[in-house]
Amino acid sequence: MVKNLEDIYYKEAKKRGLRSRSAFKLLEISKKFSIIKKGDIILDLGAAPGGWLQIARMLTGKNGKVIGVDISSIKPFPYDNIFIIRKDVRDPSLIEDIKKISGDQVDVILSDLAPKFSGFHNLDHMRQILLVKSALSIANFLLKKGGNMVIKIIMGSELNELLKEVNKNFKYVKLYKPKASRKHSSEIYLICKEWKGKS
Ligand SMILES: C[S@@+](CC[C@H](N)C(=O)[O-])C[C@H]1O[C@@H](n2cnc3c(N)ncnc32)[C@H](O)[C@@H]1O
Repeated sequence: MVKNLEDIYYKEAKKRGLRSRSAFKLLEISKKFSIIKKGDIILDLGAAPGGWLQIARMLTGKNGKVIGVDISSIKPFPYDNIFIIRKDVRDPSLIEDIKKISGDQVDVILSDLAPKFSGFHNLDHMRQILLVKSALSIANFLLKKGGNMVIKIIMGSELNELLKEVNKNFKYVKLYKPKASRKHSSEIYLICKEWKGKS
């Protein structure tokens, strides 16, 4: 039954020309929590191969902009409002690169960042949390007051501390597991709304 559901998402992604089955996670999250609105400038961290970029562009429409960042290459899209930066999110020069495209601040930050998994859960969790911290420090420079953020988390011992930090920065925070997320995976998404402003 679970396997069938996963097959359905995979086949549906292929049918719709989506680059990842993960695309359905963002679609569900954004619709359920009203994350992205028309005309938004969206920053997508850990964007390869580009499934979330496709959904973000569909939701923001032709007047919005979507900026994807990944350490791996992303095949270009034939649209003039998707921008791709190939860089490590920990590279301090990234902020200026993004600002050249966004102007100043962005309305929404998406982070589906994940390290290459070693198979050792605690190690993978710790490495993923470090990536989340980089995403939050980017938000501190670039997310506009009142902006929204969606963050993938690999659950583990650091989750509670992270939740405390995120709760200080956003008015509304909720943990959510979308239907397209594999039942047995330890990933969950943090839905963060209304950034309180630079801390
Ligand atoms: C789960 S994938 C993202 C899938 C994407 N949301 C989609 O729908 O196509 C996680 C991505 O995080 C990227 N990543 C991991 N560490 C990174 C880093 N330090 N800087 C930038 N990207 C990184 C990986 O290269 C990988 O492409």
